[in-house]
Order: sequence, then C-alpha cells, then structure tokens
Amino acid sequence: MPHRISDIELHLFLEAVYLRYHYDFRAYVGASLKRRLRAAMTRFECLTLTQLQDRVLHDDGIINELLNYLTVQVTEMFRDPEYYIGLRRHVMPLLHTYPSLKLWVAGCSSGEEAWSLAILLAEEGLLERSIIYATDINTLALETAQAGVYPLSRMAEYTRNHRMAGGRSSLSDYYTAAYDHAKFDERLKRHLVFSDHSLATDSVFAEMQFVSCRNVLIYFNRGLQDRALGLFHESLCIGGFLGLGSKESLGFSRHAHTFTEIAPQERIYQKASA
Ligand SMILES: C[S@@+](CC[C@H](N)C(=O)[O-])C[C@H]1O[C@@H](n2cnc3c(N)ncnc32)[C@H](O)[C@@H]1O
Repeated sequence: MPHRISDIELHLFLEAVYLRYHYDFRAYVGASLKRRLRAAMTRFECLTLTQLQDRVLHDDGIINELLNYLTVQVTEMFRDPEYYIGLRRHVMPLLHTYPSLKLWVAGCSSGEEAWSLAILLAEEGLLERSIIYATDINTLALETAQAGVYPLSRMAEYTRNHRMAGGRSSLSDYYTAAYDHAKFDERLKRHLVFSDHSLATDSVFAEMQFVSCRNVLIYFNRGLQDRALGLFHESLCIGGFLGLGSKESLGFSRHAHTFTEIAPQERIYQKASA
C-alpha cells in the first residue's frame, strides 16, 4: 500500500482511469508514468493529480488527449534498420513456406512500423498473401496510422532507414507526395488492419506467424510484460516468430523456455513448443 501522498494520488488516479474508461495503466513502470503525468497536469492546468482525476472522471472529452500523455508515441519508419535486416535474413525465408500469413504489430503507435513491415513484405514477394494486424490503445495515434499520411519532412530520414534496412526499392515508390505530406499507397493499405487492442486487458484474436512488439514492454512492470508475452506465445503458431527489438528481451520471463533465440542482437525468437 502506498504511503506518500503523491503515490496515493497516483494509485487513486490510475484506478479512476481504469474504472471509468477501462484503460489499465496500473502495472506500468512508475517513474516514467509520473513524469508524463506531471506534463499532463501542466497541460490541463491541474495543481495535483487529484484535480486531474476529478477532470478525467467528469469530462470524458479529455481521455483521448490524456492518452497522449499516458503513452509514449515516439516511432519512425524502419526504426532500428538492423531489425529489418534480421527479419529479411531469419524470418522471411520461413514465411515463404506458408500459403497465407497473419502478422501482428502490437503497440503500433501512429503506424510507421506497420507500414514499414508492409513494404518489407512487398519487397520479399510476400505481401499478397499477408494480413498485418496493427494494434494500439491510443485512438488518435490509430487514426494517423489508418490514414497512412506522414510529414514529407521526415521522408529523407525514413529513406535512409529504409536503405540501411536492406531496402530493394525506393521508398518513394510507395507514397505520393502532396503539399507537405506523403500518403502511403492503397496497395499496401489493403493488407493492413488497424485496431484498438490492449496488451493489459484484451486477449488473443488470431493465430499469427509473426508478432512484432518493439519499444512497448519497457513501459510495463514484470507482471504485465509476462502477460503480454503470454499473449504473443498463445497467438503464435508453432514455429512462428516473435520480434522484440534490441531494447527488450524475453530475459527472465516465464515464457523464455518456450522460445528459441534466433537473432540475439535484434531479439528475434521462434516459438518452439505449445
Ligand atoms: C514507443 S511506441 C512504439 C511504437 C513502435 N512499436 C516502435 O517501436 O516504433 C509505444 C506504443 O505502445 C502503445 N501501448 C502502450 N500501452 C499499451 C497497451 N497496453 N496495449 C497496446 N499498446 C500499448 C502506446 O500507445 C504507444 O503507441
């Protein structure tokens, strides 16, 4: 039980958000959550978390904006390009053996990772047989993801990432530039399904050949990390792949023994058993 007033307030605030909106942040790592909530207090002009709790309970118009503070949206196309090199080398050859593919990007933010995966699959000749499910809890980020429209100013950096990720085509082949935006193509979009899904409260929704969950588990405590990894394990077919990226690992998870590590740097694993 918390004793410090600020910890009591945090506890009550997270309970209130959960009871009112069913967003469950109760098992997120405390320090970074507190920092982000301080920024939210400034934005909503609240002196205490108790005041913010009052706002969030009585004004349901602020929850979507509040989610932008409770979650971290930072992302980019072909982020950590060596991850995609790892996928090309270790995962794509085996995905060719399946007649149809389901892939899941969990915690997709505004969609850049999912659109990147679609481009990778296109380059590898696998897109036509694929459906990519890309999920998140942040409604506003999902709207951006669904639109597939990103600032043109970021395309130079994304083009560099794409090339370093072993890109076999030009990134500009996949988007149309208009004014200051780049709109990614319908032929990719046909294979992308964006939807609301929480790793904290929801369950598995399909059998997957590949799950990618990068830069998400770092915000969860050990218990919640295990819940999410359990969902990935349950969701993957035997022989299916899990990509966590360089910042996270199966480490001490109770699911570690059910996966074989196939790319230690990029933290790509293969499901070994049921
Ligand atoms: C830093 S972004 C990572 C985006 C992308 N995967 C990448 O690596 O660039 C973290 C994302 O996880 C999402 N997230 C946080 N808690 C979640 C949960 N319980 N279920 C699903 N997504 C969650 C956030 O909304 C945010 O969009």
